[in-house]
Amino acid sequence: MLIKILCVAGARPNFMKIAPILRSLAARPAFAPRLVHTGQHYDQRLSKIFFEDLGIPRPDIELEVGSGSHAAQTAEIMRRFESVLQAEQPHAVLVVGDVNSTIACALVTSKFMLAAPFRCSLGVRRRPLMIHVEAGLRSFDDDMPEEVNRKLTDAISELLFVSDPAGLTNLANEGVDGGRVIFVGNVMIDTLLAARERAMQSTVLETLGVQPGAYGLVTLHRPSNVDDPATLAPLLEVLDRIASTLRLVFPVHPRTRARMTAHGIALDPRRWVVTDPVGYLDFIKLTSSARIVLTDSGGIQEETTVLGVPCVTIRENTERPCTIHEGTNLLAGTSPGGIRAAFDKAMAATVSERRPKFWDGHAAERIADQMLQVFGEMARGSA
Ligand code: UD1
Ligand code: UDP
Repeated sequence: MLIKILCVAGARPNFMKIAPILRSLAARPAFAPRLVHTGQHYDQRLSKIFFEDLGIPRPDIELEVGSGSHAAQTAEIMRRFESVLQAEQPHAVLVVGDVNSTIACALVTSKFMLAAPFRCSLGVRRRPLMIHVEAGLRSFDDDMPEEVNRKLTDAISELLFVSDPAGLTNLANEGVDGGRVIFVGNVMIDTLLAARERAMQSTVLETLGVQPGAYGLVTLHRPSNVDDPATLAPLLEVLDRIASTLRLVFPVHPRTRARMTAHGIALDPRRWVVTDPVGYLDFIKLTSSARIVLTDSGGIQEETTVLGVPCVTIRENTERPCTIHEGTNLLAGTSPGGIRAAFDKAMAATVSERRPKFWDGHAAERIADQMLQVFGEMARGSA
């Protein structure tokens, strides 16, 4: 019998994570993976472009939920995903990361009773096996919506695949059964290493009119940084002072763009190159060629670590501590003084050559192999 796995993606950082997982599952004849796109992100530049850049097959199922408040968006994904489970009757549901689509689909799965039970190494199952990739990350900041999504998703997942060694400690501290937790490395880095050569062919530097090593790259989209103009304006002011010594390229997330427009915040084109969000290959080319990256993104802290580019993280905390201890990341905080000091320090520092364990391009293969073990007899029957 084929093992039917529903793989869920919904927002920009999910696509880089799901791409290698889909490939690894599809390469093993035991598995029949199906991709569900919730539609949390729907703009060409936040969604479709990644399918083209990363060669992700068209989603098998599209929920088309769109934007909304946390409650409205999460509820709508749940409502629509329940019908999918009813129709598909999967053996497992796999979610990645920490966005609203992640917790919404995990929560529905954890209460869904299948029409027919099946047996795997975890016993007789009446519900699909719930799998979380990128489990165990914690910022210890409950004001961050992603932190709530992470903790709840981990609490109801039955196989937890960990990317950062800190995840093992965090899950152990929360009393999660260690038998369900497996350190496999980082699927986002699988995508980065697979796409790196193609990304180097991008002509984005010429398009934007910047030279390698002669600009900084900025991204900002955390609600705590961008939603309140009393926070966003001084943050952009300190970055503007930095821009007077190093030109800054800023692909602006729609959440941030909306706030800048609403509050009449404009950036001087003599110091800034402001663009819409760019595709993955262009973004990796921009990152690789940047003198420094200043960001509040989660995934970009990881990519800069592997690319060996200094990263200043404009946040009070990070759920990805190995990018600091074993990478190029410097946590700046969010005060103007802290950001300036971190920038100066990062510009003067020697870039670390260390890379976290298993950030080697093979994390998704480890995940698929572990899943083969769990589905034991069923997998052998169909191989
Ligand atoms: C979401 C995730 C965040 C992730 C980020 C990646 C949650 C709680 N947040 O934040 O963890 O880091 O994606 O980019 O899941 N919008 C568009 N076009 C789109 C999608 C959204 O214009 O295709 C605008 C809408 O006005 C929307 C706003 O962006 O209200 C925010 O989108 P949403 O998905 O709610 O949160 P993000 O800030 O994108
Ligand atoms: N990214 C991109 N284009 C951009 C900005 C980011 O392709 O204009 C990629 C980036 O390389 C990384 C991912 O988007 O792979 C990170 O997503 P984001 O910062 O939106 O979310 P987070 O990681 O903070 O959840």
